[in-house]
Amino acid sequence: MSTLPTIFILISLFATINHAIEIDYCVGDSNLPRGPEGYACKNPSTLTTDDFVFTGFRGERTTNSIFRNNITLAFAKQFPAINGMGISMARLDLGVGGVIPVHSHRTSEIIVIIKGTIIAGFIDTTNTAYYKKLEVGDVMIFPQAMLHFQINAGDTPAMAIVSLNGASPAVQQTSFSLFAGNLPSKLAEQITHLSHEEVTRMRKLFQSA
Ligand SMILES: *[C@@H]1O[C@H](CO)[C@@H](O)[C@H](O)[C@H]1NC(C)=O
Repeated sequence: MSTLPTIFILISLFATINHAIEIDYCVGDSNLPRGPEGYACKNPSTLTTDDFVFTGFRGERTTNSIFRNNITLAFAKQFPAINGMGISMARLDLGVGGVIPVHSHRTSEIIVIIKGTIIAGFIDTTNTAYYKKLEVGDVMIFPQAMLHFQINAGDTPAMAIVSLNGASPAVQQTSFSLFAGNLPSKLAEQITHLSHEEVTRMRKLFQSA
């Protein structure tokens, strides 16, 4: 690697830390190393308007997954222009009976209902659940790191757009964390008090999901 690109990469890595003071934007380059503040910047001279536009929310969605949902992420990985900007979006499609199972992010999330009716809610650290049937146009906030969920409450497909105050907020779905990863069944049983049979059933369900 020649010196100039190396220097550029190093500068852009530092630049992603509080970049707004130093540079206008930092469109992420996923080919370069990712630091705790995000991706390193693409060389600005290579950028076009299309780098700042995400078209991934277009069109219809099928909802054949076990939760009858279809989640389209516009996080920094899918939409590199938001790298380092502390903001991201996702489109949630819920078929009839569809659910976004209980999950959390590193950030807060705000939802707006575009189609259908959705029961949305979160559970705080005192185990208080706040939930409501939301109509088209309604907005609800899920505070940072709280467990939350969305359920299609109508008899037609539902759709919502969410925004999160991080470019890479991650999605941690509780059932998948417990039953689809590398946590041994025995430990899953111990930390949940579910029976061996139930944990076996859940692992089958979520590992094939
Ligand atoms: C989401 O919908 C798209 C478009 O119909 C489809 O190609 C994709 O497989 C769906 N994803 C899931 C997880 O169902």
